[in-house]
Amino acid sequence: MTPPRKLHIKSYGCQMNVYDAQRMVDTLAPEGFVETADANEADLVILNTCHIREKASEKVFSELGRLRVMKEEAAREGREMKIAVAGCVAQAEGAEITRRASTVDVVVGPQSYHNLPKLLAKARTGAPAIETEFPIQDKFSSLPAPKPAAIRARGISSFVTVQEGCDKFCTFCVVPYTRGMEVSRPVAAIVDDVKRLADNGVREITLIGQNVNAYHGEGANGQAWSLGRLLHHLASVPGIVRLRYSTSHPRDVDDSLIEAHRDIPAVMPFVHLPVQSGSDRILAAMNRKHTAADYIRTIERFRKASPKIAFSSDFIVGFPGETEQDFSDTLALVTQISYAGAYSFKYSSRPGTPAADMQETDTALAVPAAVMDERLARLQALIDAQQASFNRAAIGQTVEVLFERAAHEPGQIVGRTAYLQPAHVMAPADIIGQVLPVTIDSLERYSLKGRLASTHAADTSRAPISIPATEPETFA
Ligand code: SAH
Ligand code: SF4
Ligand code: F3S
Repeated sequence: MTPPRKLHIKSYGCQMNVYDAQRMVDTLAPEGFVETADANEADLVILNTCHIREKASEKVFSELGRLRVMKEEAAREGREMKIAVAGCVAQAEGAEITRRASTVDVVVGPQSYHNLPKLLAKARTGAPAIETEFPIQDKFSSLPAPKPAAIRARGISSFVTVQEGCDKFCTFCVVPYTRGMEVSRPVAAIVDDVKRLADNGVREITLIGQNVNAYHGEGANGQAWSLGRLLHHLASVPGIVRLRYSTSHPRDVDDSLIEAHRDIPAVMPFVHLPVQSGSDRILAAMNRKHTAADYIRTIERFRKASPKIAFSSDFIVGFPGETEQDFSDTLALVTQISYAGAYSFKYSSRPGTPAADMQETDTALAVPAAVMDERLARLQALIDAQQASFNRAAIGQTVEVLFERAAHEPGQIVGRTAYLQPAHVMAPADIIGQVLPVTIDSLERYSLKGRLASTHAADTSRAPISIPATEPETFA
């Protein structure tokens, strides 16, 4: 028997890439590859890349510089190390990558990685193997299922891609170009995946997609199912106690999704709903096709169906032409909604996007770097204060926690609340995989500490934790 070959994979970017990385490992397992955390000893290193902002994209090339040194070192020891670039930079740059970094053996786009074994075989002949087509046949039907041992090693919470790609073409964004058009997987394939995961210990599923609530996969009856209907169905899979979905677009929130939050206890009351800006002028220039008021109405629909829902969002500051007034509209929206958390980014001009062209044609539109820095700091301070206030509200409450793993501190087990807050308790390890009520005693930075309120699973009447409706005092 040939000894196993070692695979090191490093992922950047979004949850889709985390999921894809696992599926690449599953694809290469039948080829005799086992994962290693140490790139130095790997026979194959895969960089699973992200193109969303310039910084993310450029990181790949500095990483490739380091890998070249490792590859040469391996060659001196008589070992062969292959280097593959996968993900969204691979898709966007294609052969350009091998021109800039001759150390790369394989370039494979996010829709083609099921062909990795074939591409590696081709690369063995000498020339780099490049595949960045959007194939007609979807990769999911060609991907091998993960082995039970691999599922167990990955823990009790798992991502499942249900939808990929995007047809929305926000003017700042590369995703429609790197991931291709929007496609939904059929219901039956998703149910198979979820059952396999549940049979091997997974308790929480996060359905993922670039626009997950645009989901319209084919159901058993040949009809298109909405995300809400899919959530309903998956809630009945034995073993699955929590369902989440990410990332949703405000324009695709339909009644079935709202009803899922109202009617299905397994659907967690935490919704990531990116808005990007609170200014209607900027939202229009971004091609988001909704106003700030539309967004607020959508939030209200969720809150009406289930008052305990908390929200997070993404924001971009310094979009071309953003004025101080536009930015203060963003602050006003954040103040009005009060988020449990949010990601904020400085606008990064991406080649080939309409916003980049706009800024090139009219350079006066570019927001100076110092202004962007200052706006980002103000926005982050507001969001941080809201997040801290949201987390503090859990102190003294008894909340349900799904326990995930042993914590660093001996005897401690860590899990997550419905709102993804980490929660630590002293308890035996056999609580891992269970949802138990925890009385929260304190908050240390982002992490809650508490005691088990019972060693029995809580009933289904979830104790809501209070969500601050108003802005924190520091920003009054
Ligand atoms: N599909 C999701 C977002 C995917 S990208 C949605 O529509 O909301 C994740 C986040 O990266 C975006 O929400 C946006 O805030 C940020 N982002 C995308 N392109 C960017 C750019 N060019 N500059 C800065 N941030 C960007
Ligand atoms: Fe990008 Fe907009 Fe599509 Fe989100 S909806 S992936 S931001 S183009
Ligand atoms: Fe990045 Fe591609 Fe995800 S650009 S954010 S890895 S879809």
